[in-house]
Amino acid sequence: MIILGVETSCDETAASLIQITNQYKYTNYTNIRIISNIVSSQVKIHAQYGGIVPEVAARKHAENIVGVLKIALNSKLKTQNSKQNLKSQILNLKFIDAIAVTNGPGLITSLLVGVEAAKTLAFLFNKPLIPVNHLAGHIYANFISEPQILNRKSQNLFPAVCLVVSGGHTELILMRDFEKFQKIGQTLDDAAGECFDKVAKILDLDYPGGPAIAAEAAKIKNSELYFLDSKFSISLPRPMINSPDFNFSFSGLKTAVLYSYQKLKSKNQNHISAICAEVQQAIIDVLITKTIRAAKKFKAKSIILGGGVVANEELRKQFMSKVYSLPFTIKFFTPEKNLCTDNAAMITAGGYFKLIETPKRDWLKKFDWRKIKVDPNLEIN
Ligand code: KG4
Ligand code: ZN
Repeated sequence: MIILGVETSCDETAASLIQITNQYKYTNYTNIRIISNIVSSQVKIHAQYGGIVPEVAARKHAENIVGVLKIALNSKLKTQNSKQNLKSQILNLKFIDAIAVTNGPGLITSLLVGVEAAKTLAFLFNKPLIPVNHLAGHIYANFISEPQILNRKSQNLFPAVCLVVSGGHTELILMRDFEKFQKIGQTLDDAAGECFDKVAKILDLDYPGGPAIAAEAAKIKNSELYFLDSKFSISLPRPMINSPDFNFSFSGLKTAVLYSYQKLKSKNQNHISAICAEVQQAIIDVLITKTIRAAKKFKAKSIILGGGVVANEELRKQFMSKVYSLPFTIKFFTPEKNLCTDNAAMITAGGYFKLIETPKRDWLKKFDWRKIKVDPNLEIN
């Protein structure tokens, strides 16, 4: 089975082809292989504004979507080594079984571009069109393994506690099975990625803030700065770390950074790296503590991470060592780094797990392109 996927929920225009073998028995040795995973990032454009400008993002998606789709589809034709006329093959899209598209959550004007492009293809080529929740996509990024055999269901994965941490969301989700999600907690204000981005802006670092702060924080380990200046110490709060619920709050952390930075600046001190290391650690501490507490409460068999913030090396390392030092056994999954930030392969994989719940004869009826609606506030349950 081959599925085409489209993702335009934020500032990445993305299309992907994945191939699934043994699709009818995903309990046994299903293999999800990426044929192409094309991402056209608008980061450089939005960097000059220090954040995403929705109208600019939508316009760029409209400009880029056809080119991105063409490259993603062409990869399949190249791998086939076909002697046939490439153009006519593209026009037939014969080799594709279904199309998946992100229909929310995200920026409405951005989502619309991908959904309308996908609807057009589904209509023209009479294909099922599967709407995929962006956050579920971040979770399903874990189920893509190339070229290894995937046999996760029989590994006794569920219930799983999933932490999705991106620029727009910080959510803890209980996953009882494939396609069975229940939100158990979320941020009450800023998302963790948003906190990284806003702190970077305060500190005059690049956009997106996550990678910029991680790079600054990494310097502290090799520098004497932190230790030489005994008068300098920075200690930031770990908001809601001890609250009994599974919610988060990161806007106070950003404000705490602002005040610390202003104080330091007025004393003419420049301890950017130390601030970055501390804010990164504060975010990591909260995310790990609350996820593990949720895993204990729900007797989870696995912890699954997803979203752009999971590309953070310190978070991955510290999470893994914490999980492996627990007095009980729990599986731990993170997507490959390039599958943490927004991409279409994760959406395509999400489409597969939805499709497979329905018998093939009903695909066109159940996944009728006419039924698909964009929802910028789409919930996972
Ligand atoms: O999932 P994603 O690509 O887009 C959304 O769905 O929002 O996540 C983007 C977020 C940004 O806030 C970015 O700063 C953050 O992920 N991010 C990171 C890293 N790479 C990206 N945060 C921390 N460390 C990183 N290495
Ligand atoms: Zn995302």
